[in-house]
Amino acid sequence: SKRYTITLLPGDGIGPEVISVATNVLKFAGFLEGIEFKFQEMPVGGAALDLTGVPLPEETLSAAKQSDAVLLGAIGGYKWDKNEKHLKPETGLLQLRAGLKVFANLRPATVLPQLVDASTLKKEVAVGVDLMVVRELTGGIYFGKPRGFGTNENGEEIGFNTEVYATHEIDRIARVAFETARKRHGKLCSVDKANVLEASILWRNRVTAIASEYPDVELSHMYVDNAAMQLVRNPKQFDTIVTNNIFGDILSDEASMITGSIGMLPSASLGESGPGLFEPIHGSAPDIAGQDKANPLATVLSAAMLLKYGLEEEIAAKRIEAAVLDTLSRGYRTGDIYSDGNAFHFSSGNPRIEETRGVMHLYRD
Ligand code: NAD
Ligand code: IPM
Ligand code: MN
Repeated sequence: SKRYTITLLPGDGIGPEVISVATNVLKFAGFLEGIEFKFQEMPVGGAALDLTGVPLPEETLSAAKQSDAVLLGAIGGYKWDKNEKHLKPETGLLQLRAGLKVFANLRPATVLPQLVDASTLKKEVAVGVDLMVVRELTGGIYFGKPRGFGTNENGEEIGFNTEVYATHEIDRIARVAFETARKRHGKLCSVDKANVLEASILWRNRVTAIASEYPDVELSHMYVDNAAMQLVRNPKQFDTIVTNNIFGDILSDEASMITGSIGMLPSASLGESGPGLFEPIHGSAPDIAGQDKANPLATVLSAAMLLKYGLEEEIAAKRIEAAVLDTLSRGYRTGDIYSDGNAFHFSSGNPRIEETRGVMHLYRD
């Protein structure tokens, strides 16, 4: 049987709750497909700060690098919010993404038929939405230099960051996006702010140049402010979206609400080689942590993306996706997605997992 080593990074807040559910689901799907997992759990974020004094210990990064895939919960919390930048949980996550060189972040947003009523948009606008945000993840304003605090010519305190992209960074994310669009519905919309920002002008020029390698993909460009509006006006116009680090962060949270909840959206972060990083797009949700309220499905679906994109185990991935649909069809809901008065808490107390006639079921007794 096939064996894989998976690094688990539960992190903070609801991270450990959702990782626990997703790990059990992953184990079960593997068991059904003759796949054996070796899980190694490591600290990251605030948990690592408390334990070791840094948000990404060297042991965590090297364990992650040596494994076949990495599954992360979430990081961050009030306790560490006032820390200096290099001692913030968020810095640990950025170091992890940079350390694994996972420059391409795939964030699918699909409106599941079972959850149409959970969308904040009108039914006819939400039904059938199925889009993919390809977010650049290791460049842009998150990493650009110079950055820091200082004083301006009036002696006033300033904070500053730099949005910077080099050609090779744009070219490689553009190629991932064109490949992604080619496997979907052949439409790619590149989102930028080329009417104002030089980094966006280069972005638009390079994406346009790379398009000549993909004559079968229909490319369009849109300014980010318009894209934010179009996403809630008519989200079905989008198939694949490619954008920079910060616009992708914002637009994917916006897209999540079309699908019903941020608690539903998974992601896959991939590089040229080496293990991928798989995580829900949501954060540590300190407001609901430890209360058995977290929706674990974004992380469960991230485990499905781990199987599909990280290990090329498509059949096991499909099992997890089917189990999620089955669970929703049978009416199981966490508070964030319930719309019919029947909230069913289903999170930190692990679900019972069973298989009948080839279908995985998750139950909360
Ligand atoms: P958040 O995503 O943690 O929470 C936003 C809102 O969505 C909250 O009301 C929360 O309760 C709800 N929510 C999020 N995930 C949910 C789930 N699975 N089920 C049900 N409800 C859910 O964003 P925030 O409040 O802006 O940030 C909180 C902390 O998380 C901060 O420290 C932030 O830096 C961090 N953060 C981490 C990540 C990550 O680890 N990748 C992502 C975003 C934010
Ligand atoms: C996300 C988060 C992170 C980001 C933060 C916590 C650094 O918002 O994964 O979407 O901005 O990338
Ligand atoms: Mn985010």
